[in-house]
Amino acid sequence: MPLRVKGLPAPDASIAPAIFVCLPLAPMRTRAGQAQPFTQKPYRICPPGPRIPCEFFPPCLASRRARRIWFRRTAEGRSMDIQSVGIVGAGQMGSGIAHVFALAGFDVLMTDISEDSLAKALSQIDRNIERQVLRGKVAPEAKAAAMARIRTTLRLADTGPCDLIIEAATERETVKQAIFEDLLPHLKPHTILTSNTSSISITRLASRTDRPEKFMGFHFMNPVPVMQLVELIRGIATDAATYQTLLGVVEKLGKTAASAEDFPAFIVNRILMPMINEAVYTLYEGVGSVKSIDESLKLGANHPMGPLELADFIGLDTCLAIMNVLHDGLADTKYRPCPLLTKYVEAGWLGRKTERGFYDYRGPVPVPTR
Ligand SMILES: NC(=O)c1ccc[n+]([C@@H]2O[C@H](COP(=O)([O-])OP(=O)(O)OC[C@H]3O[C@@H](n4cnc5c(N)ncnc54)[C@H](O)[C@@H]3O)[C@@H](O)[C@H]2O)c1
Repeated sequence: MPLRVKGLPAPDASIAPAIFVCLPLAPMRTRAGQAQPFTQKPYRICPPGPRIPCEFFPPCLASRRARRIWFRRTAEGRSMDIQSVGIVGAGQMGSGIAHVFALAGFDVLMTDISEDSLAKALSQIDRNIERQVLRGKVAPEAKAAAMARIRTTLRLADTGPCDLIIEAATERETVKQAIFEDLLPHLKPHTILTSNTSSISITRLASRTDRPEKFMGFHFMNPVPVMQLVELIRGIATDAATYQTLLGVVEKLGKTAASAEDFPAFIVNRILMPMINEAVYTLYEGVGSVKSIDESLKLGANHPMGPLELADFIGLDTCLAIMNVLHDGLADTKYRPCPLLTKYVEAGWLGRKTERGFYDYRGPVPVPTR
């Protein structure tokens, strides 16, 4: 006999599963109700879900353990088998993503508007996997097999039949929206759409497609073959099967997923980018030179790279775009992009990718440009 709670209507077992499906992964919490520590199971971090009185569940789902197992089985049962991946944008992120997917056994089709970017991406992937072969991390036959799995095309529509699309083009909302709109007529009904955006609203991008429930943020870190983390961002309409499918893909890549809510710049860049922006302000206001700012953070805070060096590595255009999304999306002046960052971008000094940013990379060793 299910429990009755005074003042609430009689339990209705038929609606219980439906209510439960609508919940976030709230049952995946410790006994004390704490989110599990980031280092253990990061993908289980989630905001507290609403508490549903136990009388709403049928007797077979009366215990939290039973509900947890039921939910996992239901969600896992619906997750999809991904074999082919279409990657849109063959810049530093697109090429890194193609590298790890091909090594993990997925068929990869990479597209870009620039033939030069596609050619550079292929040679970069070849060089990077070769480095892994020389270090004994990848077998020579595995390299040959991975390279054979990567194809390129200049026609976006060719990626339509892939099971999973990962958009990794320039960090501009209009560019990303246009890509998804152009792709829609060529997609298979089951295709999952994802964006590697560092900051832009997943819910907003998804709402412009015909499948917001099959749309997610799939945020890889740079350099992709080295960095362990992948942020998974659900839009408001993303369904459990899509989330479970991407969790499975991350597992197959041998990486670790962290779940982030859909707010500007998610977790990593919400914290990292204001620090980089502050480093640029520190330079702008003359508090320190490029060299002293980077050395201070490396030697004083044990960061592996200085913030300005890191900004050059990410791309100053991407840093500025993320700061603008934070500033507009959170409407707080603390996210105001530094005018000096804007000036570098206007000059076309975008960091390593254009050989000039806070450092000049055209000589044998990088030298500060200020
Ligand atoms: N750079 C980083 O550290 C980093 C880290 C995580 C996520 N990201 C995100 O990844 C995405 C790509 O960043 P990146 O650093 O690789 O940029 P990038 O400038 O190196 O590459 C962008 C690529 O997109 C291509 N492109 C532009 N418009 C296109 C279109 N309409 N169709 C197909 N291709 C198009 C460009 O030709 C270029 O090759 C951005 O959304 C960025 O925020 C970047």
